[in-house]
Amino acid sequence: MRLLLVAGARPNFMKIAPIIRALSAWRTRLRQGFGAASSATDNRQRTYNLSWKIVHTGQHYDYEMSRVFFDELEIPEPDYYLGAGSGSHAEQTAKVMVEFEKVCVEQKPDVAIVVGDVNSTLACSVTAKKLNINLAHVEAGLRSGDMTMPEEINRIVTDSIADYLFVTEKSGEDNLLKEGKPKDKIHFVGHVMIDNLLYQLQKLEQEDGSRFKSNPLKEKLDRYAFLTLHRPSNVDNKVVLSRIAGALNEISQETPIVFPIHPRTRKMIDQFDIKLSKGVHIMEPLGFRESLFLWKDAVMVMTDSGGLQEETTALGVPCITIRENTERPITIEMGTNILAGNKKADILKCYREIMRNPKKGEVPPLWDGKTAERIVHILSADYTDFCDERS
Ligand code: UD1
Repeated sequence: MRLLLVAGARPNFMKIAPIIRALSAWRTRLRQGFGAASSATDNRQRTYNLSWKIVHTGQHYDYEMSRVFFDELEIPEPDYYLGAGSGSHAEQTAKVMVEFEKVCVEQKPDVAIVVGDVNSTLACSVTAKKLNINLAHVEAGLRSGDMTMPEEINRIVTDSIADYLFVTEKSGEDNLLKEGKPKDKIHFVGHVMIDNLLYQLQKLEQEDGSRFKSNPLKEKLDRYAFLTLHRPSNVDNKVVLSRIAGALNEISQETPIVFPIHPRTRKMIDQFDIKLSKGVHIMEPLGFRESLFLWKDAVMVMTDSGGLQEETTALGVPCITIRENTERPITIEMGTNILAGNKKADILKCYREIMRNPKKGEVPPLWDGKTAERIVHILSADYTDFCDERS
């Protein structure tokens, strides 16, 4: 089985790290003779040939948005760096497609694995499929129902052509079946993002937090909320961003807010000349572990990110999602998430609700740290060649 594993933007890196770990573990087992006949009555010898290449599209490129994740998440150096960079949706997608096509032609993989819902996911899916390469989509089936979100278009297009649909939550399976996908392509495996979270949490518990730049602030604040904000629907419009800022300024009078800021958001805050009060502590984007170091102990998280809605549910930290909808309903039905929308009064109402009665929640099924293993087993079962020992 020859694989291409694609990542392009920040939330992708957390998702490929556990898959690479599971692939490496699987290859080690194969080398140790796991490929021998499986039972006394089965005389056939299994033969394996497992290899993979990592492709970084370069959609995110700053040190804080990319490199730091490769280092911390123990992702090996990419075999290919496509250097796509920023641009309009069409420009970015097109640049990735042109470069990724060359990689596919050179590598001739059996399967291309794409994760999540960013432009790189869409670009590589379409490119691979048109070269008749099997496509595996990790985090398939999520739907917000909001076609103004670029991610929703990326999800729908990718799922419509994928051969393996690896689903994180029950709603994903339901959505795919409703859209007419055959049941045998859908695999409810849990969430690789949570594999990564649990792995990194263990590492964090073994290290001294004082190495983090934000440690003095964390100690000083004692209790605080953690914020991330970067969706175009929240930050690209002056009226919307101003009313979110109004809510944040009010909350921060009571509960200080720690805010690692996405480059898009910083740019828009400057451009719209929006003022955030002193209680909102702005810092550069953080690596995965430092971010976890801060939010795991926050009284609550406020976010418009997809991943944090899930990660907070996995660790039982209350979360307010500053969006009108979520493609991750399990975080509301079972988890700690509340959907606030982006109006000042609604955000404040949710804040007060959480302060009064923090949502406890439960961990959704199969968010157990073993998802990547399940994915590798499913893929490798299809690419195992049998040869008869007696022949
Ligand atoms: C992208 C994803 C979004 C994901 C987010 C996580 C799409 C459509 N969107 O949004 O789903 O939640 O990543 O961060 O794929 N920039 C830098 N340095 C970088 C990267 C970006 O300064 O390393 C700035 C550039 O000004 C760029 C802007 O951020 O124009 C937006 O970057 P882009 O990749 O287009 O989209 P994101 O908002 O990051």
